[in-house]
Amino acid sequence: MTVHFIGAGPGAPDLLTLRGRDIISSCQVCLYAGSLVPAEILALCPTDARIVNTAPLDLDQIMAEIGKAYAAGQDVARLHSGDLSVWSAMGEQMRRLKAMGIPVSVTPGVPAFAAAAAALGTELTLPGLAQSVVLTRTSGRASAMPEGETLTNFAATGATLAIHLSIQNLERVVTELTPAYGTDCPVAVVYRASWPDQVILRGQLSTIAVQVTGDIQRTALILVGPALAGEGFDESCLYAVDYDRRYRPQSSDSPWASWTEETEANA
Ligand SMILES: C[S@@+](CC[C@H](N)C(=O)[O-])C[C@H]1O[C@@H](n2cnc3c(N)ncnc32)[C@H](O)[C@@H]1O
Repeated sequence: MTVHFIGAGPGAPDLLTLRGRDIISSCQVCLYAGSLVPAEILALCPTDARIVNTAPLDLDQIMAEIGKAYAAGQDVARLHSGDLSVWSAMGEQMRRLKAMGIPVSVTPGVPAFAAAAAALGTELTLPGLAQSVVLTRTSGRASAMPEGETLTNFAATGATLAIHLSIQNLERVVTELTPAYGTDCPVAVVYRASWPDQVILRGQLSTIAVQVTGDIQRTALILVGPALAGEGFDESCLYAVDYDRRYRPQSSDSPWASWTEETEANA
């Protein structure tokens, strides 16, 4: 018996991985994290599977559900939205499962920030503008932010910020970021990226708070930084015509001139 943690992706059912699909359809028990997991993904469960929405359960109750499956020798598909590496609560469940001696596997999913960037048609790391993406949040009732992980500190880097779980704090986000990024810094809010009711709002730090209306709540990402403009960036050297590299040595003197995949394999 194994508990399979699976990132169910940002919403669109066809953004589930093939591995996730296959595991879900082989498990007799499916525990899923509420309405952010679409019905089409739950429909992949075997017709006689036990399917449990864990949104109203506490951690002890979730472990009790897994304990029942363990006693019956049934594999569990444990679905969380997006990917499991950020804000999935996988860590605390895994700690308990390890203590109980229950085997686990982890299958990644498409995270919300990637779905939002895709919806915007934007690369978040544009040469000359930003080469880092900070996945962060503001403090909420469930989790306080560790000291030092402040928006002001992240803003000082000038990186692209992907701010989760914070649409209700938008005005505070704007206030804390404006000194470092400036009022005209581009901002995008993507609500329910990849769902049929997805909404995209593009603006600047000076405008975004009035653009976001009361309908945009909870499942929204705030993306901030110069790269969101999608212009004014450099081309990377990688595809520059004169860039000397392994696959395109520029002369017979190039250190790459004698390189082949075979020599590397034998190195
Ligand atoms: C508990 S976190 C889950 C993050 C998830 N594990 C991931 O990999 O993206 C929930 C937050 O992620 C963001 N989020 C999740 N799904 C989203 C989507 N489809 N569109 C926009 N934001 C989303 C929102 O900021 C939401 O408040």
